Amino acid sequence: MAHILGNITGAFRKNAPLEVLTHPNPLLYQKCEEIDIAHDEDLPSLVKGLVQAMRTFDGVGLAASQAGILKRVLIYDISESQDEPQVLINPVITDHSEELSTADEGCLSFPNIYFPVTRPSRVTVKAYDVAGEPILLEDIEGLLARVVQHECDHLDGVMIVDRAKPHIRKTALRTYATYEYQPEEYITIVDAQTFEAEISPGAIAHGANGETIIFAHDEAIDE
Ligand code: NI
Repeated sequence: MAHILGNITGAFRKNAPLEVLTHPNPLLYQKCEEIDIAHDEDLPSLVKGLVQAMRTFDGVGLAASQAGILKRVLIYDISESQDEPQVLINPVITDHSEELSTADEGCLSFPNIYFPVTRPSRVTVKAYDVAGEPILLEDIEGLLARVVQHECDHLDGVMIVDRAKPHIRKTALRTYATYEYQPEEYITIVDAQTFEAEISPGAIAHGANGETIIFAHDEAIDE
């Protein structure tokens, strides 16, 4: 617990490896502040630390708030080689499609549990780089759109459980609270409604890749 409490201040020590906070740490649920890019001397080392942490924990994206730093900066890397980190400072989603898409998402702050999250299929994002130069991601789609929306959510204190359907959210939170973290173990929560076959709520199965599958059902809400 000591390292988590230490981060509560939001203080950032240069060269110290960043920790990734996990639910239910309250910092994950707070709104981050805009960065004054020209005057923020810690910014380059913060970005460096975030990239390092993203690689250590094998993520495709990371927001500063996940490291306990409540500043509007996020990084992502969806390249195959995992060596093309991109940074967005003060990002704003300026436009989004009416069309939605649903896909399983996971989060380093809600480790090893995956579940469906619905988001706009395409978005346009305006941001800045570390030099203060504007960045425009116009009408991005697919994994890139999903990752950027996920990380922008972090900057507003919104976690993936907040984006899930209520019965998925409830099953995810209950699973998280009761399961003992194993680095190599993955749990996927599936919406039982998407299956024609009758699957009893809370049924557990094993996936092709060894992951545990838990079927969430609407009735779980009334328990
Ligand atoms: Ni996340």
